Amino acid sequence: MSEDKIIIEGGHRLKGSITVSGAKNAVLPVITATLLSSTPCRIIDVPKLADVEVISQVLESLGAKVSFLDKDLYVDASNLSRCEASDDMVRKMRASILVMGPLLARTGKAKVSMPGGCAIGTRPIDLHLKGFEAMGATIRKEHGYVLAETAGLKGARIYLDFPSVGATENLMMAAALAKGTTILENTAEEPEIVDLANFLNAMGGRVRGAGTKIIKIEGVPELTGCEHQVIPDRIEAGSYLIAAAITGGDLIVENVIPDHLKPVIAKLEEVGCFIYEGESSLQIKTAGPLQAVDIKTLPYPGFPTDMQAQFMALMTKAQGASVITETVFENRFMHAEELRRMGADIRINGRSAVVEGPSHLQGAAVKSTDLRAGMALVIAALAAEGTTEVGNISLIDRGYDNLVEKLQQVGAKIRR
Ligand code: UD1
Repeated sequence: MSEDKIIIEGGHRLKGSITVSGAKNAVLPVITATLLSSTPCRIIDVPKLADVEVISQVLESLGAKVSFLDKDLYVDASNLSRCEASDDMVRKMRASILVMGPLLARTGKAKVSMPGGCAIGTRPIDLHLKGFEAMGATIRKEHGYVLAETAGLKGARIYLDFPSVGATENLMMAAALAKGTTILENTAEEPEIVDLANFLNAMGGRVRGAGTKIIKIEGVPELTGCEHQVIPDRIEAGSYLIAAAITGGDLIVENVIPDHLKPVIAKLEEVGCFIYEGESSLQIKTAGPLQAVDIKTLPYPGFPTDMQAQFMALMTKAQGASVITETVFENRFMHAEELRRMGADIRINGRSAVVEGPSHLQGAAVKSTDLRAGMALVIAALAAEGTTEVGNISLIDRGYDNLVEKLQQVGAKIRR
């Protein structure tokens, strides 16, 4: 892990415009879906992120050829030589388990290291495995690995107990090459699911209903290469809106799909910010004090869990008490402790956190505990008195393309 730090001098208003990159959570499943294709694929607008590097390495370890040309990623998975995602890869990035569905469908076999606990709670993969079993795979767990095998996947009707993003994606990919029709019920509705469905369809798949609670996939015998442009990153966009809000700034965020940010926009307006929607941009202006508001994280179209930490940072500067309830993950409040080191008043009670504001934030040495927690610390630092050093920034590099440069461009005093 890199020992780099990000150093931020607080108290500078963000002003100008930032262009958002392609979505991390869309591009990762799209890259794994190239394993379904017997001919090369081109993915456009791929963000430069550590997680993209990791998933590319996983694909290479399986025998695929992967190359970057500027913001395009070319993957040729015509010849796969292995069907195993090793322990170190899955440990580096949980999303590596998304190779399982495609491998199983394409080669009849997939071996993936069991993801362990991580910084945001235990994250089982039972829903993925139950779905593969329903489609005719046998699952064995041995020596810390899950082994799935099948003589041929068959379409099935699968109800997800929880609308898991990863399970919806893994099962959609497996079903794309299965024999017959699969009906997935209670599926995740995130925009990234729709992007993956569009990619599968561009490869010749037959996926209908993505973005709703029921997805129908008619299996096809073969999928072939295509070109696909990744959707913009709504979490990156939302993070910059919040960064602007906490500095009382005036910022335009370009390359967004405003619809994808509805819950975040609604909450920022409640806080007292003015948001102006363009066709593919959002402008935020802040005047006057920020008001405390409550949030509760939920699957899309609810307030995203991936914005919870950043919003908590914002609430430390708002007037009054804000109750933040996390319903998607257990144990996703690690950032609260680091924010307290900067002077925030936050109490945790089970799945809720109460933030009393406004606090006088002061620069301190803090550490990111996960990707979004790291961004929350950067946001708090922008509004803190003095200098903050954020450590463990390799975690931030997993999900923010050119973070330091983008913030410098709009007036932040930030360096690596
Ligand atoms: C994805 C996102 C992540 C985001 C999350 C929720 C990617 C690469 N990551 O993660 O940034 O925070 O969606 O929006 O897209 N669960 C089970 N059993 C399962 C699968 C999940 O119990 O088989 C539980 C998890 O423990 C968690 C909840 O379901 O509590 C949500 O997880 P899930 O939607 O699967 O998240 P990921 O796909 O891992």
